[in-house]
Amino acid sequence: MPDPNDVLIRPVQPSDEAAIVDICYETRSVDIAEEGKYAFALRWALPYLRDDPQFCFVAVIGEQVIGYIVGTPDTKQQVLNFERNILPEMQTLIDGSHPFANQFLNGGKLDPAVTELLDDYPAHLHINMTSDCRGLGVGARLIKELEHQLISHNVTGIHLGVNKQNMAAVRFYQHQGYDLREGEADDFANPWMMTKTLG
Ligand SMILES: CC(C)(COP(=O)(O)OP(=O)(O)OC[C@H]1O[C@@H](n2cnc3c(N)ncnc32)[C@H](O)[C@@H]1OP(=O)(O)O)[C@@H](O)C(=O)NCCC(=O)NCCS
Repeated sequence: MPDPNDVLIRPVQPSDEAAIVDICYETRSVDIAEEGKYAFALRWALPYLRDDPQFCFVAVIGEQVIGYIVGTPDTKQQVLNFERNILPEMQTLIDGSHPFANQFLNGGKLDPAVTELLDDYPAHLHINMTSDCRGLGVGARLIKELEHQLISHNVTGIHLGVNKQNMAAVRFYQHQGYDLREGEADDFANPWMMTKTLG
């Protein structure tokens, strides 16, 4: 078990991208074949590194990345950026016959359940720790680092989506002050929403 005192939280660097692709895929909650690894990260992690790197942080032990948080202060803008900059590449990787095609390709669309949150909670995040480095308080440190950065940019609220079956993550987020919102949800396409007022 790693010693939490050996873990450093630092801003993301371009050279972290490969490790983030690996962790993003390893921590997935859906059955996606390995050939979809890069596309999976292109949907859920890489757009943030490219567009909002100042809102992305990694946890490292020495040179090894053991977890990350990626976020955006402005979900509306991030969705527009996805449509413009990511979707063309995604369409070369994923066609309509892929079992999760909608989820890969819909990064340029805002779900109504998200749209109604954006006035109060414009930011959002994704966080993942490698399995052998969980429960050490590092996820909490990552989330605080992002929240601190958002607050220093005058962002007053953040939301996130979590799969209904991922109750461990729900409890983790509640522990960090996030409220679980009422609403319908299913496993992947339609997650539960959680929100937190910042500052
Ligand atoms: C969810 C996740 C990011 C949490 O990170 P972590 O480093 O394991 O969590 P931490 O050790 O920082 O936990 C922080 C606090 O939350 C609490 N917590 C964590 N998991 C919990 C759980 N399942 N139930 C209740 N409390 C929990 C811890 O007890 C700790 O409390 P403390 O601050 O009083 O000590 C990490 O476990 C993970 O990557 N899981 C798999 C991928 C995933 O589900 N990502 C989120 C997708 S929406």
